[in-house]
Amino acid sequence: MKELIRRKQVTINGKTALSADLKINEFQDEILCQGVRLTYRPYVYYMMNKPGGVVCATTDAREQTVLDLLKPVLPLSEQKRTISPAGRLDKDTEGLLLLTDNGELVHALLSPKKHVDKTYLVKIAHRLSPGDIEKLEQGIDISASAPVSEKEPQRNRLTLPATVAVRDDTTILLTIHEGRFHQVKRMLQAVDNEVVALKRIAFGPLKLDPSLSTGACRELTREEIQQLTCASADIHKM
Ligand code: URA
Repeated sequence: MKELIRRKQVTINGKTALSADLKINEFQDEILCQGVRLTYRPYVYYMMNKPGGVVCATTDAREQTVLDLLKPVLPLSEQKRTISPAGRLDKDTEGLLLLTDNGELVHALLSPKKHVDKTYLVKIAHRLSPGDIEKLEQGIDISASAPVSEKEPQRNRLTLPATVAVRDDTTILLTIHEGRFHQVKRMLQAVDNEVVALKRIAFGPLKLDPSLSTGACRELTREEIQQLTCASADIHKM
């Protein structure tokens, strides 16, 4: 920018910028660079259709991470941002993953008290009985398969009420309102079933874009960002 300003190719509110030290209001001032309007984005938001075999981390010594997939599609101007996945999907889980550098929003969406809906397309080993569906929907004790960190609190034994929509004998849509460790797999295990394949298709107000091929990502639309922001604001009120 300094070089462009020196060459008098930058205007601020119609006046040629004469110094790079000028204070600007990034939301109000109109900055043109070689006649092209610059916009300031405090945060970026990407939707990824996560493939299996990739870990939900920013770096990993051995495994390919979702950030390794995102980096090549980030414009040069966004490469320095500290972008992270909003929560975790297991290495073998596919589907909707939000990646952003808006830590506050992620914190609001993921807080265990906030209960953001997550919908999974779940391939299961065998048909669920009406009794299994009732247990999954009413709340089920998944403490038998709890990792050490989740062992203690009694109140954590039951999952919150969930919704099951049966697609066919071995495919269901499961909507949960928490994000506990391996939650879907443990819920199915608790009714003596098994998850064969797992894909997240919705996260709060976001729906997985059907045009995103596995491993692809795209920026969220303005409308999607607004919906997420509204969802996190609603959550704050809860
Ligand atoms: N539940 C699981 O068991 N795994 C995931 O990746 C997400 C939810």
